[in-house]
Order: sequence, then structure tokens, then C-alpha cells
Amino acid sequence: MSFNMTDQDQITSSNESAQGGKAVIEIKDLYKSFGDNHVLNGFNMTLMEGENLVVMGKSGSGKSVMIKCLVGLVKPDSGTVKVLGKEINSLDQQKLDELRSDIGFLFQGSALYDSMTVRENLEFPMRRHKEKLGVVADTEPLVREALDNVGLAHTMDLMPVELSGGMKRRVALARTLILKPKVILYDEPTSGLDPITSKEIIELMRSIQKKYGTSSLIITHDVDCARVISERMILLVDGINYAEGTYSQLSQSTDPKVDAFFKK
Ligand SMILES: Nc1ncnc2c1ncn2[C@@H]1O[C@H](COP(=O)(O)OP(=O)(O)OP(=O)(O)O)[C@@H](O)[C@H]1O
Ligand SMILES: [Mg+2]
Repeated sequence: MSFNMTDQDQITSSNESAQGGKAVIEIKDLYKSFGDNHVLNGFNMTLMEGENLVVMGKSGSGKSVMIKCLVGLVKPDSGTVKVLGKEINSLDQQKLDELRSDIGFLFQGSALYDSMTVRENLEFPMRRHKEKLGVVADTEPLVREALDNVGLAHTMDLMPVELSGGMKRRVALARTLILKPKVILYDEPTSGLDPITSKEIIELMRSIQKKYGTSSLIITHDVDCARVISERMILLVDGINYAEGTYSQLSQSTDPKVDAFFKK
């Protein structure tokens, strides 16, 4: 059995028949180079509604570049990137901002604002996306709900410097939840965390998906994270979607480029 699905028709039709749902993200033939560094060379990916899709790739393979293309932070050289039915690169700034309010992006690291309290960090996207929530006179219930989801309501008035690495990651996750996004993009949600804290973060990601029915794209090189959370996986190798399948399918592959991911 081969999992080298570079044929887009094959990918699309297999997804539709397997899931019967609709695509919330569609990347077709994505190319991106930085000078002579050809990072993405015709990458394809579809995320179906309600799905947990994991993209694995080694360090420097272009995972963060790909995810940044999804929110318009990196402009591709060619190819199409559709999120929630909209072609990202044809949107003006206002429309792009509107769309971004439906996309939760957990950055690699956690990227909290160090000079703001936890509460202010969570209020920030609410201010930025007023059009989605309207004028919120009292932000506290929303901030509390988002922090309750990650078990950290008691940290509301602390500064990021007072939090551990795992807590910061959870606060960042709460911040992505505050706008009740339809899609969450996780860039290395467990990197730099110990195994127990990683497990806690993975459990949170699962409970969030259950509670809000979000669709999730999870970028990781953590094999354990991929095993636990993925319903489907794509391996990014040499700038393309080199292999695609479930964890158990891919982990049994005899293709050396695929097998390399699963060797401990
Ligand atoms: N803004 C940029 N300008 C120039 N080169 C860049 C830029 N962003 C990324 N790159 C290059 O693109 C390549 C892919 O980077 P990317 O950050 O996507 O890797 P990654 O797969 O996320 O790696 P990691 O697992 O270490 O996070 C790297 O060679 C990087 O140096
Ligand atoms: Mg990265």
C-alpha cells in the first residue's frame, strides 16, 4: 500500500468519502521560496470540518511557513490557500482581519505579551476584533470562561513572568479560545514542555475540540502528540505532502522517509 498521495484528486476524493464533511482549509499547489531556499514545492492539504489533522515535518521543513500562509503572515509565491471558503490572498486588510477572528493561532513558543497581565493578554484579541463580539462592557466573564477551559482562572491578574512554561502555553491557548474560533492552528503546542505537561496540553486540545466542535490543524514533530491527537496525518518532506494517512498506517510504512519519523 502506498501513502504517497501527491495527486490532489485522490486526496480530495478520499477525504470526502471518509469524512463526508466539508473542507475548512484547502491548500493547493503551494510554493514558497526565500531566495535559493525552496521551502514549499507544491504542498497540498485539506482540513475537514471537525477534524484533528497533524502535519509532521523535520525542523526547517517549512511547517511554520505553511501555517503562516494560512493566516496571511507569509505570502506564497504561487498556489491557492482557502480558509473557511475564502481565498486568503485575495482579501483586503479588513476582510483578512475579519477572517482571522475565526481562526485561533497558537504560535510556536506562546507569544504572550510580557508587559500585560494574563487578563490583558486575553482582552487584547477582543479589542482587536470588536466587530465579532460587539462592544463588551464587562470582559471578565469571557476572560474567566476562557481561562476556566484551561484550569487557570486564578492567574488572571498575574504577569506572564510569574507563570511556568506550561502555564504560559495554557494561557496562550485560552487566548486563542476567547473569540470562539472555528479553526485552531497549533504550531508545536508541546515543544519545550516535559512529557507530563505535554500530555496535559494534548488533553486540553481534545477537550476544546469536543466542547466547541473546532477543526484543528496541529503542527508538531512530537510523535506521541501525533499518535494521541491525530485522526489523519500529513508528512511534509521536501516541500510537499509526501505521505498521508492515519498514525497506524504511516507508522507501519516501509518507506524510509516515512519510517524515519517514527524511529525513536
Ligand atoms: N521570513 C523568512 N525569511 C527567510 N527565510 C525564512 C523565513 N521564514 C522561514 N524561513 C526559512 O524557511 C525554512 C522553513 O522554516 P520554518 O520556520 O517553516 O521551519 P519549521 O518546519 O517550522 O521548523 P521548526 O520545526 O524548527 O519550527 C527555514 O529554512 C527557514 O530558515
Ligand atoms: Mg516551526
